[in-house]
Amino acid sequence: MSYPWWHVPFLTAPMLIALIATVHVLVSHYAVGGGLFLAVETSHAYKHNDEGYLAYLKQHAWFFVLLTVVFGAITGVGIWWIIGLASPLATHFLIQTFVFGWATEWVFFVIELAAGFAFYYFWGKLDRRTHVAMGWIYAAAAWISLVLITGITAFMLDPGQWPETHNFWHGFFNPQFLPQVLARTGAAFLLASMYVYFHASFKCQDTDLLRYIERRSSRPAMLGSALVASGGLWWYLLLPASSKAALQGAAVINVLMVIMFTLTIVVFALLYIGPYRNPGWLSPGFAIMFLGFGLAATATGEYIREAVRKPYIVYNLVLGNQVLAEKVPLLRENGFIEGTRWPSAWLAARHPQLVTTHPDGSLTVDEQGMLALPKYDRVEIGEVLFMYHCNDCHAERSGVNAMEHLLTGWSREMVATSVRHPEKLKYFMPPWSGTDAEAEILTDYLMDMRPEMPEGMFFGGRHDSLSDVQAMIGNTVEEAR
Ligand code: HEC
Repeated sequence: MSYPWWHVPFLTAPMLIALIATVHVLVSHYAVGGGLFLAVETSHAYKHNDEGYLAYLKQHAWFFVLLTVVFGAITGVGIWWIIGLASPLATHFLIQTFVFGWATEWVFFVIELAAGFAFYYFWGKLDRRTHVAMGWIYAAAAWISLVLITGITAFMLDPGQWPETHNFWHGFFNPQFLPQVLARTGAAFLLASMYVYFHASFKCQDTDLLRYIERRSSRPAMLGSALVASGGLWWYLLLPASSKAALQGAAVINVLMVIMFTLTIVVFALLYIGPYRNPGWLSPGFAIMFLGFGLAATATGEYIREAVRKPYIVYNLVLGNQVLAEKVPLLRENGFIEGTRWPSAWLAARHPQLVTTHPDGSLTVDEQGMLALPKYDRVEIGEVLFMYHCNDCHAERSGVNAMEHLLTGWSREMVATSVRHPEKLKYFMPPWSGTDAEAEILTDYLMDMRPEMPEGMFFGGRHDSLSDVQAMIGNTVEEAR
């Protein structure tokens, strides 16, 4: 299995997945929780013959269908486009493993869409029982699609027994399945209430009705926060050791964890002192802030969930740079270019003298010949190796985790060592999957972009020579004594 490279300048291709997936999740949680809200509340309003509330709920259903069905469906299909391009090997792997899971998911999507449209467009035309039933069919189908997709995404973090048994159910009911279903169901409750507050604070003119809506939606939101907190804690306790270490070891994730905890506490506190204790507080400004905090907490949480899988995309099976973990020894032995279709085709087109094609279709790359090329050509080959090995997590010259900036002032020896043992430098980087000669070529590329130490650092500027610095350190040591 080998796929061509998709180069996304500045952002890197996987960051596009993170962006679209985060945007999608903010709406998809509402698609589940909002469906439940509409089913429960419509049924309640019918029972009490509450015409005012029914009129509001119809308005809300319009907003709901527009946001979840139109925006949710577009971003959902967008995820498929982008993961197929940005992460083809992992997507291939997941489809092979879960093909019937996806198929079932799509069946529930169709049910969800049909019931959602019927619920809104036949409002007032269906008898009350059938109308409420449509709401419940929508809510159930939406929640089941949450459960189905969670089985598959949680598998990526911890496939459990699947690698030994290759049994669909072992993969689907993986150790991370229940905690994530719990947390996401909670997020669906919580975000639905926030979207309701947001919509109602603008659209509901009747103050008494607004207070009523506020009170009725505060309990599901509090329940949602409790589910998010307990699901999140459970998720953390069951994390595989490498993910726990990534969570603690990466600076960016540390900062995000602090942000997420702070936001969650703020949302809970606002919920308690606002809608729960003082229903009169709900103004459009308050609702916007509330929804903003809720969305930010959810987005950060989902981002962390994605980020801690490093160095894998699918734990123990597919590495973060689109290499199957089991293929690493072979690629180290025979060469990355030799073992992968697209880089070898590129090399054969660019430097035909370096590639011999055998009658059985296999290739041999002349590594000594590659090392003997002029610098310009080696740097160019090094760039290809970089794109395949490192560009999933590092932009080149500027952008996300940009390589050029990370290497400022590094010596060739340091660069060469880090290429050969990335997993020793930061254990959440995948191991090198090429030969020694290929590592040397990648080092050429990296040294070509590496900036010098900023002017005036250490041995320039204030201190004229190494001996000055040594003298200074010596003095300090003397003083300390
Ligand atoms: C799975 C993602 C991933 C891949 C693939 C990856 N890296 Fe990294 N690398 C990271 C992260 C994340 C950091 C920085 C973490 C931080 O902010 O401290 C990093 C940091 C680095 C650093 C700086 C280390 C330091 O101590 O400052 C170097 C050098 C580096 N990577 C080189 C490489 C090279 C060369 C490759 C390709 C052979 C590569 N990385 C592939 C994720 C990756």
